[in-house]
Amino acid sequence: MTFFCVFMFGALLFLDAAVEAGKCPKMCTCDGAKLTVACVGKNLTEVPSTVDEITLKLDLRGNHLQVLPRGAFLHTPYLTHLDLQRCGLVHVKEGAFRTLGRVVSLNLAYNNIDILYQEAFDGLSSLKELLLDHNRVEEVQPGAFMQLGFLNLLQLSHNQLVYLPNMAFQGLQNIQWLRLSHNSINNLAPEAFAGLLSLGRLSLDHNELQFFPTETLTRLPALTRLDMGSNPMTYLGEEAVALPHLTSLLLDHMSLQDLSDTALTRAPRLTHLDLSHNQLRCPEPPRGPTALLSLNLTGNPILCNCFLRPLRQWALQKRVNLLGACAGPAHLAGGPLGELGLQDLRCRSRQEMLKEEFEEQEESRVGAVTTATPIQGAPCPGGCDCQEDAQHASCEGRGHTTVPRGFPNNTQLLDLRGNPLGRLPSDSFPGASRVVSLHLELCQLHRVEGGAFGGMTDLFYLYLSHNGLTALGPGAFSGAPGLTYLHLEGNRLAAFPGAALKPLPSLLALHLEGNAISALAPGGLLGAPALRELYLTNNTVATIAPGALDSAHLDALHLDSNRLTAVPSRALRGAPALRLLQLSRNPIRTLGARAFQPAGRSLRRLYLDGTGLQTMSQEALVGLGAGLVLLSLGGNQLEGLPDLRALEGLEEVNLLHNPLRCDCPLLPLRRWMENTSLALTATCGHPPEVRGQRVRQVEVFKSCVETSPPTDHTVPRSQTLKVPPTLKVPTGKTKPAKPRAKPQRKSKTPTKSKTPTKSKTPRSPRPPRRPRPPRRPRRSPRRPRDRIRADM
Ligand SMILES: *[C@@H]1O[C@H](CO)[C@@H](O)[C@H](O)[C@H]1NC(C)=O
Ligand SMILES: *[C@@H]1O[C@H](CO)[C@@H](O)[C@H](O)[C@H]1NC(C)=O
Ligand SMILES: *[C@@H]1O[C@H](CO)[C@@H](O)[C@H](O)[C@H]1NC(C)=O
Ligand SMILES: *[C@@H]1O[C@H](CO)[C@@H](O)[C@H](O)[C@H]1NC(C)=O
Ligand SMILES: *[C@@H]1O[C@H](CO)[C@@H](O)[C@H](O)[C@H]1NC(C)=O
Repeated sequence: MTFFCVFMFGALLFLDAAVEAGKCPKMCTCDGAKLTVACVGKNLTEVPSTVDEITLKLDLRGNHLQVLPRGAFLHTPYLTHLDLQRCGLVHVKEGAFRTLGRVVSLNLAYNNIDILYQEAFDGLSSLKELLLDHNRVEEVQPGAFMQLGFLNLLQLSHNQLVYLPNMAFQGLQNIQWLRLSHNSINNLAPEAFAGLLSLGRLSLDHNELQFFPTETLTRLPALTRLDMGSNPMTYLGEEAVALPHLTSLLLDHMSLQDLSDTALTRAPRLTHLDLSHNQLRCPEPPRGPTALLSLNLTGNPILCNCFLRPLRQWALQKRVNLLGACAGPAHLAGGPLGELGLQDLRCRSRQEMLKEEFEEQEESRVGAVTTATPIQGAPCPGGCDCQEDAQHASCEGRGHTTVPRGFPNNTQLLDLRGNPLGRLPSDSFPGASRVVSLHLELCQLHRVEGGAFGGMTDLFYLYLSHNGLTALGPGAFSGAPGLTYLHLEGNRLAAFPGAALKPLPSLLALHLEGNAISALAPGGLLGAPALRELYLTNNTVATIAPGALDSAHLDALHLDSNRLTAVPSRALRGAPALRLLQLSRNPIRTLGARAFQPAGRSLRRLYLDGTGLQTMSQEALVGLGAGLVLLSLGGNQLEGLPDLRALEGLEEVNLLHNPLRCDCPLLPLRRWMENTSLALTATCGHPPEVRGQRVRQVEVFKSCVETSPPTDHTVPRSQTLKVPPTLKVPTGKTKPAKPRAKPQRKSKTPTKSKTPTKSKTPRSPRPPRRPRPPRRPRRSPRRPRDRIRADM
């Protein structure tokens, strides 16, 4: 009603407009009754400007718009449906939709959009569904969806996402279903889904996740359905699925070889579990879900022997619908699991089993030689074991001096570690185009020739650790453009292999620990534009040139155990996204003013343990702000510390093993400690009377005068107030003391101190996990948590 009144009023005032109201842009079809305008497949290069103002539905499918400028729809403020599919869109400028507060459905599918900018969707305050599938989105800027508080469905399938940053979907308070299928996601920041409190369904299938993203998913309290199929996971660890309302979990078409028996204990409401098409041989009854209705094990190589009895018995008792069939032994092969009687599930004697195993091995040897015994399936080179169903081949430690040839052409994991190969000539892996993970650790490699990995288009993980490589030529990795995780630790590389990284646009994590790299030269990281994690621990790095770290995405930089004598402040300017900086065990004796300022806005975790640090400028930490959650300064020679009050976001601080001088200059620290809820231990090292006592407990501060932070900017090692502790004599710059009543407290210190509202304070962002090699997934222990605690 209101709408029509407004319209009528407008029409009366502006007669011209009223006359034009019935008019339809050339090339378009208009329906004056339904208020729709369709201009489909007309090669339009811009949004037609003469669309009737009162139009509700505008269909511009199949045009050639390319760019949506700011205010593209100024003339049609009443739109409720806007279809821009297949419009060749590359850019959606900020503010493009600003006037469209009534649109409920926006379709941008099948375009070429690559970045979703902050505020790209501003103005769409009524939007309920946003379709962005089949684009090229590789980056979602935090804040992109900030204004979409009514959105129910967000479709981002079939894009090129690799990583989801913290807060990627912030603002979507009413989202029901988030579709992220068919991307290349291999990494989710811990807070990637923060704020999606109403999300019921999440589709993450057909991505590159190697691990179940337990922590990230705990931010989704309302999730009931999770589609996670077709990800390269090999193992589901202890308590991996921690989703209290989840009823439906799809883990089909993965490479699961095993599940921890407690993998599902924190998913008590699960009713449907799909584990079809994995590599499970002998699944055990899952613990935790009490109301499971169906367990789908179709397409697993299940061995129906006595070890399967617990599962069968459990399914019978709990009336769980068990789907799938036996793969063996021969007399049961093909039999539906749901029809097995317990008495069918038997084991033969140990001797019988050994005999059969031996025969199988013999057969596979014979098969390897004659190459084609159809019964035995694909061939396998001599001196190797190929598990065809698992798509794994292993020739570990079998004395090969050249790479064997003739692996099954569907092999995904190839393990050659521990063979004395010495050298990798070009095209060392013909026919291995499907290999995702290649192990070449401990192969005494001293040379990798250009094109050695030629044709390995699917290669994602490459392990070249613990070899004798001294250099890598520019062509070393050409032929494997998808390489994402590269392990080169424990070699003898004397320089950062920047040139070799150029053909690797997707490289995300680079391990170079324990090499002999002594300097980082300008432009060093430009070879790896997507690099997020760089591990240079235990090298001999003494200089880092400005420009050496220039990288838009670098997130974690591990430089511990090197020979740096100063913080590479200037080089940090080139790393605007750096969140973790590990500088422990470098001989850095002093920290100057604003040492970390260039990375201050992004830095979350800073490690400076065991550096022998003696002095810190009062301004050493200036530039670091509320974002810093961890500061580790343990095992140094610090007698004083700058004011930490500005670091409001700190969640962990390590000051252990510093000989702090418990005297008046340390008063700000003491006050701060009194008012923080952080678990924090600091011990006095001086003066002798209080040595070994806790800073929190010593009495010496009682005699000190409350001052504003000193204005001389260093806390030299030997400075003490030459004032007998009993006298309240102000030093030169301080004001005369007020009678000591209450310390003047600034309201800046963390407010969470008193009431630690665990659920609300964002957990500290964690650097993307280091992937575990996808092998031997037997009951491995829980993945190590961050190691910080251990130092404290
Ligand atoms: C659109 O342009 C293409 C070539 O650019 C042409 O082949 C096609 O006929 C045009 N379609 C219309 C409807 O004009
Ligand atoms: C079980 O898995 C198979 C293969 O993925 C699928 O075709 C089938 O529909 C599933 N059955 C149920 C009941 O989910
Ligand atoms: C793999 O080999 C089989 C026969 O052994 C063949 O049918 C198939 O096309 C091959 N696949 C590829 C990707 O080469
Ligand atoms: C550092 O690297 C060297 C050379 O690879 C290695 O021998 C040594 O064990 C490593 N030290 C540590 C502490 O990792
Ligand atoms: C100490 O913390 C409380 C809140 O927990 C705050 O109100 C007060 O201002 C703080 N005092 C100082 C000195 O920061």
